Amino acid sequence: MKNNHKIIAANWKMNGSEELLKEFSQFVRAKHNDIIICPPFTLIDSAKAFLPSFIKIGAQNCSEEDKGPFTGEISASMLQEKNVSHVLIGHSERRILFKENDDVIFKKAEAAIKSKLTPIICIGETLSEKKSNETLKVLNYQINGSLAKINRCEKVIVAYEPVWAIGTGLTPDENEIKETHLYIKTKLDQHFNADTPILYGGSANAENCSHIISIENVGGLLVGGASLKTRDFTTICNC
Ligand code: PGA
Repeated sequence: MKNNHKIIAANWKMNGSEELLKEFSQFVRAKHNDIIICPPFTLIDSAKAFLPSFIKIGAQNCSEEDKGPFTGEISASMLQEKNVSHVLIGHSERRILFKENDDVIFKKAEAAIKSKLTPIICIGETLSEKKSNETLKVLNYQINGSLAKINRCEKVIVAYEPVWAIGTGLTPDENEIKETHLYIKTKLDQHFNADTPILYGGSANAENCSHIISIENVGGLLVGGASLKTRDFTTICNC
């Protein structure tokens, strides 16, 4: 059965090329789902030029600052000038490798909203947190720290990405996805006026996408590795 109107977001990380964008432009077609591709900053102009207009373009990060002496940083207003519509905030690689905490993530989300971008705010537990049965406690902490201070009228997207599932080929089972997404939904419903889509991310691929996307309260997928394979990503876009 087809699930109407889900969000399929591709996180290319530090990968991709103009050739890949050209391939995507031939294969990826709009069906019922919203498609967002987040290439590296340097490919944003090419993505706008090569991809059909139904595909929205997102960035993978933005600064919490608007301008100034922040060597190497890119602000949300600069992304807005590039007609980017979405930006990933607080991906676990940023949290872990670049030491971004919930307060920084909140400030980045605020900067994105101020520049009229929709933040896709990522949350999720590590393997050791899962093993100590702390998944819901971690999600609670991350939501309180990075999301609950955002004005309740704003529109955001949340991506639940268990860190241990990212790039590993492992995924939570159906009950685990049900439980975490229901928990996140209940918390977000208490805070935001509008329904907040909750994407699942972590080893989503062409084989498991239809199943995962059909699970209750899963509003779509955030796809890393499989989003770099044109045919696989085309399948995922149509699941
Ligand atoms: P993966 O990555 O699909 O390769 O597991 C997901 C992500 O990091 O957003």
